[in-house]
Amino acid sequence: MISLFSFILVLCVVSGVVSAIVIFGDLPNFRGTPIHKLRLGLPSVVRLYKTTNERYFNNKLQLWFGYTVPTAYMAVVTVCIYNFLVKTTPVLFTIVESKLVRYYMYFTIALVYLATTLAVCSDPGKITANTEASKFKNNQLIFFDNKMCSTCRVLKPARSKHCSTCGHCVLLFDHHCVWINNCVGYYNYKWFLLFLVANINLLGYGSYLCGTVLVSQKLRWGKSFWNIIVATNAVNKITGVFFLLCSIFVCITTIFTALHLRYLYLGVTTNELDKWSDIEYLVRIGALYELENNSIDNETYVEKVTLQSGEDVFISLKNNEILINRANLPLYNLRKIESVERDLINVYDRGFWNNLRERIYIH
Ligand SMILES: *[C@@H]1O[C@H](CO)[C@@H](O)[C@H](O)[C@H]1NC(C)=O
Ligand SMILES: *[C@@H]1O[C@H](CO)[C@@H](O)[C@H](O)[C@H]1NC(C)=O
Ligand SMILES: [Zn+2]
Ligand SMILES: [Zn+2]
Repeated sequence: MISLFSFILVLCVVSGVVSAIVIFGDLPNFRGTPIHKLRLGLPSVVRLYKTTNERYFNNKLQLWFGYTVPTAYMAVVTVCIYNFLVKTTPVLFTIVESKLVRYYMYFTIALVYLATTLAVCSDPGKITANTEASKFKNNQLIFFDNKMCSTCRVLKPARSKHCSTCGHCVLLFDHHCVWINNCVGYYNYKWFLLFLVANINLLGYGSYLCGTVLVSQKLRWGKSFWNIIVATNAVNKITGVFFLLCSIFVCITTIFTALHLRYLYLGVTTNELDKWSDIEYLVRIGALYELENNSIDNETYVEKVTLQSGEDVFISLKNNEILINRANLPLYNLRKIESVERDLINVYDRGFWNNLRERIYIH
């Protein structure tokens, strides 16, 4: 059993280190260190994987292997829950008598399996030729009229995106989640949130119950927590490992969930964040203009660029075509966008509660 725990621990440490390198590796502080070098090597590994996948596996590699992640995760959870029930709960139930604790524990376990199944198996909102018109309008800033998906050959509704892993377009695309090997979109964002809540509940409650057992053992043995875990008995060792695992991962999951609540508050999807930061960049360099009381093929915003000849032209945000040059400039009233907050409205942000209602699809 202990070797399995060592395996799980090693797995956690390795994945933690890899994520840390991916997230923090290109910070200026790490310039010249091995961490930075590893981070620089990552894109070429990713590129090699992508070409192999494309050339030999029709881009299906990720989807097939993708199921190993939720399967492995549930296997680890199951092994941990089994050991917790067999080893830790006998001690726990000598300390707490409340039946409620027992019932809530079973509810917590059932909820994780239910939420995972729903999140993995649900349809995120696959777009087909029969998909009815979207309820969202293209805002002409990050989504545009008459955009086709070149793979699916369907019109892309506002806020949708093609997922290259799943191989289809998804309504109100948020992101492709590796933990559930499924896209998170219009119809299953609620199951994704339930999945997060169920995991926070499992990890938080697990941490609390294991903590309760460890505190009682501390009183009984009169030793420090660390010595209780490493130098008393096997049950305390397992309980201690669970306590540490649950405490660490409940923090990570909570931070991730808080991030999503923030996106709900801002009325953006994960997918739209990048697009908005491109718009912010254009505003910052003073290159975004609005066509006042006018539009060209429905487009109402243009980007100012200076050609090599020195001429200023205004290009489409949709396809970079030149829409306005010296010749037709007098026909339009252009207003420079000075600030994203003051001059642009996120039409998709309808306030936190409406955003939440919309995203979890309650009508
Ligand atoms: C644009 O239209 C608004 C009213 O719709 C008007 O107040 C404004 O003066 C117009 N601007 C220009 C440049 O024509
Ligand atoms: C402009 O918008 C209308 C109505 O939304 C749409 O029918 C039309 O196809 C759009 N035109 C272009 C060029 O995108
Ligand atoms: Zn597509
Ligand atoms: Zn996907």
